[in-house]
Amino acid sequence: MSAFKGRDIIAIGDLSREDIRTILDQAAAFDRHRHEYAHLLGPFILATLFYEPSTRTRLSFESAMLRLGGKVISVAEARTSSSAIKGETLADTARTVAAYADIIVIRHPAVGSARELAEAAPVPVINAGDGTGEHPTQALLDLYTIERERGRLDGLRIGLVGDLKNGRTVHSLARALAYWDVSLMFVAPPALRMPEDITAALRARGVEIEETNDLLRAAQTCDVLYVTRIQRERFEDPDEYIQLKGSYVVDRALVQQARPGITIMHPLPRVDEIATDVDALPNAAYFRQVANGVAVRMALLALVLGAV
Ligand code: NCD
Repeated sequence: MSAFKGRDIIAIGDLSREDIRTILDQAAAFDRHRHEYAHLLGPFILATLFYEPSTRTRLSFESAMLRLGGKVISVAEARTSSSAIKGETLADTARTVAAYADIIVIRHPAVGSARELAEAAPVPVINAGDGTGEHPTQALLDLYTIERERGRLDGLRIGLVGDLKNGRTVHSLARALAYWDVSLMFVAPPALRMPEDITAALRARGVEIEETNDLLRAAQTCDVLYVTRIQRERFEDPDEYIQLKGSYVVDRALVQQARPGITIMHPLPRVDEIATDVDALPNAAYFRQVANGVAVRMALLALVLGAV
């Protein structure tokens, strides 16, 4: 019996290093032999509940479920088109959706919302982003991508760039990388630094962290640059966003001055923080990263549903 069956995936801290290894290995198996598993999840229904915009995360979960032969029901604009607008609580939504589906994927603007849904839902729940909190499945596909691009995780120096305060992808990724022997560089404007509790927790686990606002130096010393969007929707003051937007731009000239062979990643969507002239370089891994998301989400669904 799989150690994953029935588990909720809400935060990276819910997973051990061994759990993550299992997910990445299962994803690799699906990548190699996708067609052998086309009926694996035939009896199951996935419900996706998205209270915030998404292109990749929702479609890749749905694609993953369909590629494994499962079925999907979806509320894409749950904020305006579900009973949330009538004042329904997440706990009541959880009990209801669990009557229709065997597993729920939720994205919601409030930190802690996925945990709240999971506590009330009698079926497993996967967090696809809770506000500025966590985005654990993105971190898993990011690890999978780093390992594929670089051949390993141990021994790498990884730079996280951009809105480290509000970006949930970097919160989860930094926590996930701490399971390996990596050194981290945090490149952010002073107002958008990585939250102190995360930095302190990583340092307590022995991760070497350097904070800087020198993007060129980061590019010259890191094996991987993970670039993020300034999270406009999290700013109360639009002028502050305008001031910070464009703080860091990775363009072809920067990549040419960077450490040779550097890998450039981004969870997407990008605004202007990676110039399109980078896209054709072999260093640009962000569209391969998108494709990797399907295999990793196939692995998560199959493991949590107890099918592998
Ligand atoms: C990210 C998110 O929603 O947190 N997108 C994604 O899931 N790939 C990143 C972002 O919106 O900037």
